This record gives sequence, structure tokens and C-alpha cells, in this order.
Amino acid sequence: MGSFATRFAGDSCCARGTPVKTTAIAHANIALVKYWGKRAGTAPELNLPAVGSLSITLGGLSTETTAELAPDLAEDDFCMLDAAGEPLPPDPRMVRRVRAFLDLVRDRAGGGSRLRVVSRNDFPTGAGLASSASGFAALALAGTRALGADLPPGELSSLARCGSGSAARSVFGGFVELERGTAEDGHDCVARPLAAPDHWPLRVVVAVTTEQHKAIGSTAGMQRTAETSPFFAAWVESHPADLAAARDAIAARDFDRLAAVTELSCLSMHGLMLSARPGLVYWNAATVELIHSVRAWRAAGVPCCFTIDAGPQVKVVCEASVADEVRARLTEVPGVLRTIESGLGQEARSV
Ligand code: DP6
Repeated sequence: MGSFATRFAGDSCCARGTPVKTTAIAHANIALVKYWGKRAGTAPELNLPAVGSLSITLGGLSTETTAELAPDLAEDDFCMLDAAGEPLPPDPRMVRRVRAFLDLVRDRAGGGSRLRVVSRNDFPTGAGLASSASGFAALALAGTRALGADLPPGELSSLARCGSGSAARSVFGGFVELERGTAEDGHDCVARPLAAPDHWPLRVVVAVTTEQHKAIGSTAGMQRTAETSPFFAAWVESHPADLAAARDAIAARDFDRLAAVTELSCLSMHGLMLSARPGLVYWNAATVELIHSVRAWRAAGVPCCFTIDAGPQVKVVCEASVADEVRARLTEVPGVLRTIESGLGQEARSV
């Protein structure tokens, strides 16, 4: 079997000039101000968040997805490849989710045939590294383009959101905010870029503490939290202040303020998860060790802070000048298996 790049690179066109095969790249992102929970009383397929969120796009963690028109197929075909380009065993839940999403892609593109989709992440899938964000952003772009539609970025973001809330943010590069919005139909729940990567070229070092898949995915975890945590309303209410603090810190490139709100939002979300019934504990021993270590390093003058999603990996955001030092320190912390480093990345694009 040839490599992913050899087999799928390039677009091709049918006689009418409509692309029939498109490859798109999108990057993962991490939220500095977190999204956790859906907006009550809204249509599930719109996937509307209960809170806004603010993230940075990570150029070093990418999904590359090729979508090709396949009128011969009775159902969309979806295959995931590992980083080396070899097919992974099919995950029936993911295949169902992708097929449902591709129906929405056809709706937005004004119809079209079934698609053959191949997707490859260059980082581990499903272990709290936001693979659904880059995955659905790349799929929204590759799918609509293969079907001959060229959606403006805002519409692409709203489409990607229907696949996964965090995917709405991966449509853009640099610093990105996803507005909660208030409209029933979700038209105002769209991400927008706040600042380009070179506004503040922060770096992120991910401390990988397990290679296992997470036990409870984000969608199920946030549903349980919204339904059972007594603190959910307070989380929603306090969110606008966190978003404003993060926006201000980014505009001023004030690392201490950004660190304070990033850790606050992360710990508030995990507090919320712990207060669900039964409580959701995504951390392991190394996660806790890392929280204490990062705080001690910052207190000693190293501009770094942590954030953690629905998994035990710890993402350390830092100024570029200390990235080497942070990486070296992280590898010394007991339980850290390896690190992955990334700078800020660009928007989703077809290649
Ligand atoms: C903890 O976007 O994966 O990473 O919309 O249900 O697919 P669904 O959830 P998803 O949740 C991300 C949650 C988070 C925080 C964040 O990225 O904002």
C-alpha cells in the first residue's frame, strides 16, 4: 500500500469542473476558556454549546482528510489511517457519527452523492488531544469542496460545530473565540479569529501521561454533567467574565493574566465534572503531579500554565522563550511518557 500522501494527494475534477476529490488539513486546538455542556432545549443535531469558548489552534497537531465523490456507494465510506498511513480498525460509533455529519454536509452543499473519506491524524486519537476538533473541521472543508460548494469560513465553522463543538474553532488559526449565541437555529453560534498566530507566538508542550483511549467521551460526559451537577448553572453564569478576561489578556499579551484565567477555567470545568453523578475523573496521578509542578515553575518565574481537557494529558502553554526548558522539565516529571510540542497554527485549508 502506498503512503497516504501518494494515494490521496491532489484534487481532481469532473467534466463540469466541480471538484470530485479534495484534501483538507485542519489543526487541533486547545481551549483556554473551556466549552463543557450543551444549550438546553435546542436541537441536538445543531450541537449548540451552553457556553462560549476561547482557544488556540495548534499547528503541530493535524488531521488530513480526503473526500471523494462516490456515486457507486450505498453509504458513505470512512476510513481512519494511523500516523504512518496504515488503516486503523473501523470504530462503528465514529463511522455512524461521520455518516450523520456527511448528511449535514450534503444539506449545506445543496446535495450530492455519497463520499469516500479517508482521514489521518498525525497524533494519538481519542486520548484528550482534541482529535474530533481537527477531524470535523477537515471533514467539513474536504466534504463541502468535494461536493462543489465553497462555504465562507463562518458557515464552515457552524457546519463543523455540528460534528463537534470544538471543531468550530479549528476552522480558524491563531487565537479563536466560539460565540455561544442565543438564536434557536444556531446561526449566531460561530467561531471567529481574535488574533493571528504571530500576534503572540505562544507554544504548547503536551505531556502525554497515557496512550489509552478515554473511558467517557466528551459528548456523553458533558451530557451527564449538565443533567446532574448542581453547579452547572454557576458554570454558565460565570463564563462571560472568563471569556472577557482571556480576551483582554491576549490583547495585552499579559501572560500572568492569561495563566490565571486559563487555569481557572480548566479547574472549574474539572470541578464541574467531579460534581456530576457519578463523578467524572479524567485525571491520573501524573496529571495531578503536573498541575503542582507547573504552578511551582510559574511561581519561580517560568511563564507557563496548564490546561487539561477530557483526558489525563496536560497541555502546558508557555512563552516561546521557555519552551525548551519547559519540555526538559516535563520529561523529568514522574508518569510523563513523552511530550508533543506545537506552536500556533493556521486556519483549515484545502491542499
Ligand atoms: C473538554 O467538542 O469534543 O475539550 O461537541 O460533544 O463533540 P462535542 O464535544 P467536544 O468537547 C470539547 C470539550 C473540551 C473543552 C473544549 O475544547 O472547549
